[in-house]
Amino acid sequence: MIELKALSMCYPLEKDTVTVLSGIDLTIGQGESVAVVGPSGSGKTTLLLLLAGLERASEGAILMDGVQLSELDVDAMADLRRDRLGIIFQSFHLIPSLSALGNVALPLEIAGRRDARQRAREILEKVDLGHREKHYPSQLSGGEQQRVAIARALVHAPALLLADEPTGNLDQQTGDKVGDLLFDLHTDVGATLIMATHDQDMARRCDRVLYMDNGTLVEQQYDAVSG
Ligand SMILES: Nc1ncnc2c1ncn2[C@@H]1O[C@H](COP(=O)(O)OP(=O)(O)OP(=O)(O)O)[C@@H](O)[C@H]1O
Ligand SMILES: [Mg+2]
Repeated sequence: MIELKALSMCYPLEKDTVTVLSGIDLTIGQGESVAVVGPSGSGKTTLLLLLAGLERASEGAILMDGVQLSELDVDAMADLRRDRLGIIFQSFHLIPSLSALGNVALPLEIAGRRDARQRAREILEKVDLGHREKHYPSQLSGGEQQRVAIARALVHAPALLLADEPTGNLDQQTGDKVGDLLFDLHTDVGATLIMATHDQDMARRCDRVLYMDNGTLVEQQYDAVSG
């Protein structure tokens, strides 16, 4: 379970600060799927970076299963990310010197899994990239890099999946397939899924849709609107 308590985030600018999140209170249950929607610049990526422990909140707290992220040191946070989180970044963050297969296998290799390459190969097949496993990121299209990033985030079946515009660079058909993969993991292993998206179809597949409005999150009731 994830709890956000009075969570605020300001970025410093030369003399000023920009407030991006202001006083968010939110509870997300284990196994829930949550879409975070809202205009460009509204703070969706910022929220995911805080949840991933990659940025530190200005104020307030994030608790995962009762553990406050800000109280973990760098090593403990890295362990938590390796063991429990899968992260799909808006700008893929693939390692340029590793092949597609190498990128996907990496989380398992770090964890010392002997079947790392085998598992990585299976999941690359699932995102239709079996034929590209030897390619380096620079030799892949944007959508292909996105799918490698998704495969890497899913390969160790994380308890919490954070996805920033996971279908943003994909055509409708590939996007639907990637959506299926994310939701399969979510339902198969009861992973919690938190996803920032502009894609209405993806948002509708989630249990909850939260709208980022002026630094706070407002629960959106689609059914009330669409009937
Ligand atoms: N490191 C930073 N320093 C200063 N301002 C920042 C920094 N990172 C983000 N911002 C600002 O915070 C705001 C929110 O950015 P964020 O990336 O979270 O938006 P977003 O909702 O993910 O947008 P998009 O839909 O375009 O991806 C933006 O106005 C951005 O300029
Ligand atoms: Mg963003």
